[in-house]
Amino acid sequence: MTQLVVEHVSKVFGRKPKEGVRRLQEGADREQLREEGTTAAVVDASFTVEQGEIFVVMGLSGSGKSTLLRMLNGLLEPTSGRVLFDGRDLTALPAKALRDLRSRRISMVFQHFALFPHRSVLENAAYGLEVQGLPRAEREKKAAEALELVGLGGWEKSWPDELSGGMQQRVGLARALATDAELLLMDESFSALDPLIRRDMQDQLIDLQRRLHKTIVFITHDLNEAMRLGDRIAVMRDGRIVQIGTAQDILTEPADDYVASFVQDVDRSRVLTAASIMEEPRALVGPDDAPRAAMRVLRTDHASAAFVVEGGRKLLGTVTEERVERALDEQQRPQSLEQPGAALHKTPNPSADEGDTVRDLMDTDCVTTRADTPLSGLLTPASRTTMPLAVVDGDGRLKGVIPRVALLAALGDHADGDHADGQPTDGHHLGEGAADEDPAGHGREAASA
Ligand SMILES: Nc1ncnc2c1ncn2[C@@H]1O[C@H](COP(=O)(O)OP(=O)(O)OP(=O)(O)O)[C@@H](O)[C@H]1O
Ligand SMILES: [Mg+2]
Repeated sequence: MTQLVVEHVSKVFGRKPKEGVRRLQEGADREQLREEGTTAAVVDASFTVEQGEIFVVMGLSGSGKSTLLRMLNGLLEPTSGRVLFDGRDLTALPAKALRDLRSRRISMVFQHFALFPHRSVLENAAYGLEVQGLPRAEREKKAAEALELVGLGGWEKSWPDELSGGMQQRVGLARALATDAELLLMDESFSALDPLIRRDMQDQLIDLQRRLHKTIVFITHDLNEAMRLGDRIAVMRDGRIVQIGTAQDILTEPADDYVASFVQDVDRSRVLTAASIMEEPRALVGPDDAPRAAMRVLRTDHASAAFVVEGGRKLLGTVTEERVERALDEQQRPQSLEQPGAALHKTPNPSADEGDTVRDLMDTDCVTTRADTPLSGLLTPASRTTMPLAVVDGDGRLKGVIPRVALLAALGDHADGDHADGQPTDGHHLGEGAADEDPAGHGREAASA
């Protein structure tokens, strides 16, 4: 069933918007309009969104994505064209019916979700229902269910400032879900989140989508995200939709040179980035830990080496099990080997015990990479270390790790799919299947800490 129909919609800002649309129809371009003092934010956009679909709108900053989205729930009126939700023309609806639609059937989730600081998580999630005028008991029940859905069960009584950024964003999502809206409009909803959390949210959205069958229009400027989420993707450029298709369509049959350069730039080798396969780091030790403590961590995590991090997970280096073991042995060794019979008295060596910490044992020459490095650029750095690759941010904080097997598995998947039929393996969530085999190409992104 088609839920949303967008017919030749344009939005021009400025003094004579209708005149602007007419000029566009006559062939004027965006630049000419700009010179005349009007902005053509969206130009002649047409598409439909099916019930239960995730439709992604992707484009660079200023390409008109947010303007388009605001016309889908009637927050902005198109200068020309029309938007039909469930067969009803939004532009023809009386103001009250439109408000009603926005509070019950269409929900919006923004990039920075503004929670009320003096309301509990539950009250925040229930806000949309409060606006609808639902009695307290009922809205709290629904809000609690929605919080459960987004994995925040148990946090109802907490305050927003007790929540991480990712959790706050989940409250935003819960608020939208609590209203039972059929259509969710999400404007860069995950863009402000850390890569691991962001991917987590993407996975959760896909999961929720499968269970709840909401219709979602999701805006992003991130191709990686678009490919992961979108059943179909609309690519916008300068206010116009230049292509609509599946991730696979857009990669393999770009509609024009612009789309080609967009996807080529990032290319298949960029569809899958370090962020999309990195894992939560295990085996973390502090620089001031004693060898014995480090050994315990290594044993517990079944690791042959650990990452050394200090406050805020700033990465200092790595330390191997071998090195820690040697330090422990040295502590056990008798003070002087010349002493006859000393080997029989294995007393701890107090001086070594005091002196040696992980800081003294670690290797600071650690191979790192960035979250946005394409998989193809990870092979070279991965070959230079036996450790999992460390993914760090601009401040040198450890964001995740990529074990060699994970990298090989991801690259292997793609190689199989690509060679079998010339297509990436999985059209829907390409993020799990595609990567370019260009082992040398992007190695420069790797750097030593
Ligand atoms: N209310 C407004 N009045 C005038 N111009 C506007 C208005 N809203 C948006 N614009 C202009 O319309 C164009 C498209 O803006 P829009 O916010 O839709 O882009 P976007 O793709 O969402 O960008 P971003 O990725 O930066 O959020 C821009 O040139 C912007 O300056
Ligand atoms: Mg925007």
